[in-house]
Amino acid sequence: PQIALIGAPTDVGAGHRGASMGPEALRVAGLGEALRARGLDVLDTGNLLGPANPWQPPTAGYRHLDQVVEWNRRVMEAVASQLRFGRLPVMLGGDHCLAVGSITAVAAHCRATGRKLRVLWLDAHADFNTCEVTPSGNCHGMPVACLCGLGPRPLTHLGGDAPALQPGEIRQIGIRSVDPGEKKLVKEYGLDVYDMRHIDEVGMKRAMEEALAGVDDETHIHVSFDVDFLDPVIAPGVGTTIPGGPTYREAQLVMEMIADTGRMGSLDIVELNPAFDDHNRTGLLAVDLVESLFGKSTLMRD
Ligand code: ARG
Ligand code: MN
Ligand code: MN
Ligand code: MN
Repeated sequence: PQIALIGAPTDVGAGHRGASMGPEALRVAGLGEALRARGLDVLDTGNLLGPANPWQPPTAGYRHLDQVVEWNRRVMEAVASQLRFGRLPVMLGGDHCLAVGSITAVAAHCRATGRKLRVLWLDAHADFNTCEVTPSGNCHGMPVACLCGLGPRPLTHLGGDAPALQPGEIRQIGIRSVDPGEKKLVKEYGLDVYDMRHIDEVGMKRAMEEALAGVDDETHIHVSFDVDFLDPVIAPGVGTTIPGGPTYREAQLVMEMIADTGRMGSLDIVELNPAFDDHNRTGLLAVDLVESLFGKSTLMRD
C-alpha cells in the first residue's frame, strides 16, 4: 500500500521539551526518500496542528490532560482517514502519549475489517502508569494503560464506547524501566513483557519469535517504536534515556523479523528529541531501522 506520513509535533505528554521537533528531524534525516528508494509510494501529509504546550505542573495527577486529549483526537482522525484510504499510516511523533490516538484508530479499523490486531510496543518503558501511581504526571508514561481501559475517560474512550485494546493484543519488547506502582498494574493486567532480562537470557531472536507467535495472514501488526527502546550509546536523542537497551544489531534483527512477517499495517515513531541529539544521529538511526522495518535487509538477500 501507499505509505502516509503524518507529523504530530507534540511534547505535551513529555517531561522535556523538544519531541515536537521529531517529525522534522525524521524528514531531515531522509525518511521519505529512504522509503521511496525501496520502491515504496510515500505521501507526506505534513504536520497536524494542535494546542501549544502550556508547561504546567500536574493537576489531579496529569500534566496537560486537555492538550493531550485534543492532540490524540486529531491523531486518531488522521490515522483513521489514512486507513480508510487503504494507506499504511506512519505517525511521526511527538511524544508517546499520541499512541492512544493512533492505536485507537487502528483497533477500530481492525474490528471493522475483521482483522486480528497485534501491537508491538518497542520501548524502554511499559507506559502503564495511572494518575494515582505516576511519578511525574507525564501522559507519555500512560498510553498503554489508557488503551487497556485504565485512565481518564476521554482517553480510555477516545474511540467511543469501549477501550481500544485487550492486554492480550500487546507485546512489549525492550522494557527496562518500570515504576513501582506501574509494576503492580502490569502484573495485574497480565501484559506480555519481553524485558531486557529475558532478551539477555534467551536472545533477541527467540524473544521476537515468542512476541510474533500466533501472527497469521489475518493479523494487522501495529508497531509503536519509542526511540528510547534503543541503547542510549547509539541513540542519545531522546528525553528519557535508559541504559542497557538493544544494540544496533539487536535492533536491526527486531525490525527485520517484523518485516519478514509481511503483516505490518501501521507504525508510530515517537520520542525522537533533536534537542538532546548529536547532529541528528538518532534521527538517522531511526530512519535506518525503519528501512529495515520496510524490508531492507542488512544481509545481501535483496
Ligand atoms: N515511567 C516514567 C513516567 O511515567 C517515564 C515514562 C517515559 N515514557 C516514554 N514514552 N518515554 O514518568
Ligand atoms: Mn488495512
Ligand atoms: Mn520510553
Ligand atoms: Mn514510550
